[in-house]
Amino acid sequence: MNYLKASKAELQKELEIQRKRFDDYKAMGLSYNMTRGKPDSAQLALSDEMLDPKYIGDGKAGETNCKNYGGIDGIDPMKKLFAELMNTNPENIIVGNNSSLNMMYDLLMKFMIFGTPAVKKPWCKSEKLKFICPVPGYDRHFLVTESLGFDLISVPILADGPDMDMIEKLVAEDEYIKGMWSVPKYSNPTGVVYSDEVVDRLGRMYTKAEDFTIFWDDAYSVHFFGDEPAKQKSLMKACEEGGHPDRCYTFMSTSKMTFPGDGVAAMGSSLANIEVVKKWINVQSIGPDKMNQLRHANFLKDYEHVIEHMRKHAKLLKPKFDVFLETFEEEMGDTGIFTWSKPEGGYFISVDTLPGLAKKTVAKCNECGVAFTPAGSTYPYKIDPQDRNIRIAPSFPPYSQLKDAATILCICVKICTLEQLLGI
Ligand SMILES: Cc1ncc(COP(=O)(O)O)c(C=O)c1O
Repeated sequence: MNYLKASKAELQKELEIQRKRFDDYKAMGLSYNMTRGKPDSAQLALSDEMLDPKYIGDGKAGETNCKNYGGIDGIDPMKKLFAELMNTNPENIIVGNNSSLNMMYDLLMKFMIFGTPAVKKPWCKSEKLKFICPVPGYDRHFLVTESLGFDLISVPILADGPDMDMIEKLVAEDEYIKGMWSVPKYSNPTGVVYSDEVVDRLGRMYTKAEDFTIFWDDAYSVHFFGDEPAKQKSLMKACEEGGHPDRCYTFMSTSKMTFPGDGVAAMGSSLANIEVVKKWINVQSIGPDKMNQLRHANFLKDYEHVIEHMRKHAKLLKPKFDVFLETFEEEMGDTGIFTWSKPEGGYFISVDTLPGLAKKTVAKCNECGVAFTPAGSTYPYKIDPQDRNIRIAPSFPPYSQLKDAATILCICVKICTLEQLLGI
């Protein structure tokens, strides 16, 4: 039934049906948590073999004894692997510890204090600070820039990436816009893959701030569901071609390849940027956890092995996503009141209710024993101006819970929408 075309009597009847279904589910006393975008235990087990001592061997990476201090930018085999993943050269890479988010936060703090390597004007001395946030997006990105005092400017994500017309206009006119967040492939939560045209435009656009910097968080670069990851132009290359080689930093980690708590993170940028960042971190640390880097380098080996390994993740993840996608098709297909992303990779499904209903829907699901990420989380300041978007994370809960959770979400969307349409 298309709810938007149905008569009042039809809507009332439908509401009775959905309320009955809701009550039946509620009586089951479920307690399901769909909020956590992290691997499940079967996915983690795919990397258990890495704990075998053979992956550490004698603790050496070539001449480097990983047990000792030093090697501030990481060990060679890990730089080589990240260079393959980021489509750049090992000299353009710094390999760090277990979290790319930590590297992003740390780099932003350095820019606050020292300015960017090219411009050297501390951002904290700027009269105002603004940052572009493609929406819906990753809550932790937004929180980092919010906590450092930036005004967050939302730019909608379209089918091929953020609205570039809007971005080009904003950055050309406002010297206080210092940078932008991006999750360019299988974006969190929309699953959108930025097109090469978007990448090129980001690389060549004029920005009024001479130290405008793109934080290119390629967290889901190889987290595909099909045969292989989507191809995408490197932003580092696009920035070089566009005459702004120092504009971007690419971040990546093995968090969702091996162990999120014990992975390895890296950043890539121009040689000029990398040289300065290395000097900064040389003051901060005497070297990263090279034993974990060594274990990862020996286990993941090279790009081909990473892809092989990620196919195993996809085999576990895709059926979980399919439960939600199939349920949405069955339950919501022709209702006209609900849209959802159909991601080819990543960790999330992004859904939209009619305006004004996301919070109410999530609360209703909670009442029925199913927790979804709080509505609004995918927007700066946790405020979704239209109150429509909900992020679904199918990876962590057991497969057996997913059908009920997806159905309950659909029932709650229907009830909230019907009540709105009937003015109840
Ligand atoms: C877009 C994005 N970036 C970064 C992270 C965290 O990465 P890391 O574990 O390397 O800090 C996540 C985790 O969910 C994410 O979704």
